[in-house]
Amino acid sequence: MSFHKKLIDWFKENRRSFPWRDNIKPYNIWLSEIILQQTRAAQGIPYYESFISNFPTVEKLALAEEDHIMKIWQGLGYYSRARNLHATAKIITNQHHGRFPSDFNQIKSLKGIGDYTASAIVSICFDQEQAVVDGNVYRVLSRIFGMYQPIDASRAYKIYKEKAQDLMKGAPPGDFNQAIMEFGALQCVPKNPNCQGCIFSENCLAFRQGKVSLLPIKAKKIIVKNRYLNFFVLIDKFKNTLLQKREAKGIWQNLYQFPLVETFGKQEDFKKHQVKSLLAEHQITSDFVIDKWNDQPIFQKLTHQKLEINFWIVNLFDSSNLGTQSCRIQDYPMPKVLQNFRDKFFIN
Ligand code: ADE
Repeated sequence: MSFHKKLIDWFKENRRSFPWRDNIKPYNIWLSEIILQQTRAAQGIPYYESFISNFPTVEKLALAEEDHIMKIWQGLGYYSRARNLHATAKIITNQHHGRFPSDFNQIKSLKGIGDYTASAIVSICFDQEQAVVDGNVYRVLSRIFGMYQPIDASRAYKIYKEKAQDLMKGAPPGDFNQAIMEFGALQCVPKNPNCQGCIFSENCLAFRQGKVSLLPIKAKKIIVKNRYLNFFVLIDKFKNTLLQKREAKGIWQNLYQFPLVETFGKQEDFKKHQVKSLLAEHQITSDFVIDKWNDQPIFQKLTHQKLEINFWIVNLFDSSNLGTQSCRIQDYPMPKVLQNFRDKFFIN
């Protein structure tokens, strides 16, 4: 039996039910694929449902306020994906009369849509033969076919795409792509896969050679940079606070934060004059008391950064009237770590 027949038979038995699989439309598939690049399917479902109920069509997404989109995306991280969703929704609405194009290259030219997402859309929605290559596909193919090329090398994508493309021949493209990703998500998992119970155990080169835990190979070690972030939570006598929008490019662009001081090493304490000059930047001259909110630093690991975060509560004595009412603080999209702080500090 061919590889694709075996795989698709397995998929028919093991296919998970997802809301985007019930109603196949390019808009739904696009949204789900972008969300699934950020999180596992189970965690992605509530985000997907929230997007569909707030923005049921691409036109509604195009017309949304960016802050509203960020608020729905909040917690998924990598916020440029949400900004790209918005930009692409506008292009589809304004330049394609609200209809998703079906041409592979045209789709691929849209913001935030690369070869993977375009392949998923055209195969699942338009039956076109474009194989997807994501982390699941790298793992499944490298193991079953004993492919030792490092998956983070520049040539890897092309090599794996060609292999997947070849295996897809003669299969329904959408089923093939979903099946291979599902197989990677459920059966050929990264750690301790159940190889004894696998439909490919007789053919799988990695299994036969005892190399399952070594594949796929990654060549590069990621260099992680330590960053030390201090957020100053100013509180005036009306219990208002101060939020700033992060305009600069980066992972948190257009999200809101408390005034930030980044230091180049651990900071045990801040001197009074340092806080005074921070306040002066915001035209605040009031005296204050300062307390550290967290006992231990809060760590957040990103792909290329390890963040060490502290929150400093600065209670102002005079009547400075800060711009953000505490009762409205939930309306602002924030990075996850700030949301967690906000929910504990302001909402309880
Ligand atoms: N992971 C990401 N996209 C997927 C899909 N369409 N099917 C299964 N797993 C996926």
